[in-house]
Amino acid sequence: MGITKAVIPVAGRGTRLLPATKSQPKEMLPIGRKPIVQYVVEELAEAGLDNILFVTGRKKRSIEDHFDYNPELGDISPGDNALSHLSMFYIRQANQQGLGDAISYAEKFVGDDSFAVALGDSVIRSGSHSSLLKRMMDIHQMEGAGATVAFMEVDEENVKKYGIAKPKGRAGASFEVEALIEKPLPSEAPSRLAVAARYVFDPVIFEALRRTPAGRKGELEITDAMSTLIKMGRKVIGVKLRKDEHRYDVGGFESYFKAFLDFALEDPEYGYMIRQYMRLKLHEV
Ligand code: UTP
Repeated sequence: MGITKAVIPVAGRGTRLLPATKSQPKEMLPIGRKPIVQYVVEELAEAGLDNILFVTGRKKRSIEDHFDYNPELGDISPGDNALSHLSMFYIRQANQQGLGDAISYAEKFVGDDSFAVALGDSVIRSGSHSSLLKRMMDIHQMEGAGATVAFMEVDEENVKKYGIAKPKGRAGASFEVEALIEKPLPSEAPSRLAVAARYVFDPVIFEALRRTPAGRKGELEITDAMSTLIKMGRKVIGVKLRKDEHRYDVGGFESYFKAFLDFALEDPEYGYMIRQYMRLKLHEV
């Protein structure tokens, strides 16, 4: 049976984006015309993931409002928008104790099914019609994997910001992960392949989460749980982003500004004007 369930963790504090996130979720910050989390939901819908669980928390209620029926914006009936065929569920993470902890709230929702996880603060943009998540789900089922994870190539100086893969042998478009190293020094990184905000899990991940101790910051890290999965003898598969796929991680201001600019520059109505405006501005500096 195909995978139809997805989880979007959106409960994080978003401290790196303060004060913008003082009273609103970072996942609701706009890039271009839409809030970040809407791009994520559209990506899931495109991949056929129709049952979506949001793991929310304090100050995150506007996410639920955003996906509600909205007569002010012209929705005539509750079924009247492009995302209305989706079933959306919400659960609250009691304390923000890490991404692994957030994902563990999905256990009852998931039951015996494999499921996808998409971080609510990361947008994957694709130049073609290829769907990263569809590729990941196909490979996951073909391999009978415990976890299938998206990876992107990062510059050497950036490996310290991410979970980095040690591939078993040469890393092709997809590859088996021998080990995962959280935020290594460039000199100790086994590759430049960084975890890229999209996952597919077998429900065995919940057992792995239970067996995984909290990390240095007292948070339960999903990367550590995947290392536990490998120790449990389950396969972890990596899938590389293609050249025309880009991940926008909107966790900090630098990446947020870059994401907003890229989307504004490509806006069908205003992109041309924004490009002219930027040329003018760049002449001034
Ligand atoms: P981050 O690692 O960026 O953490 O979360 P954060 O708490 O949101 O942000 P900072 O570090 O304080 O700036 C990645 C994704 O995982 C979710 C976040 O909402 C975000 O979409 N998350 C993180 C949770 O749902 N729960 C957590 O306990 C941590």
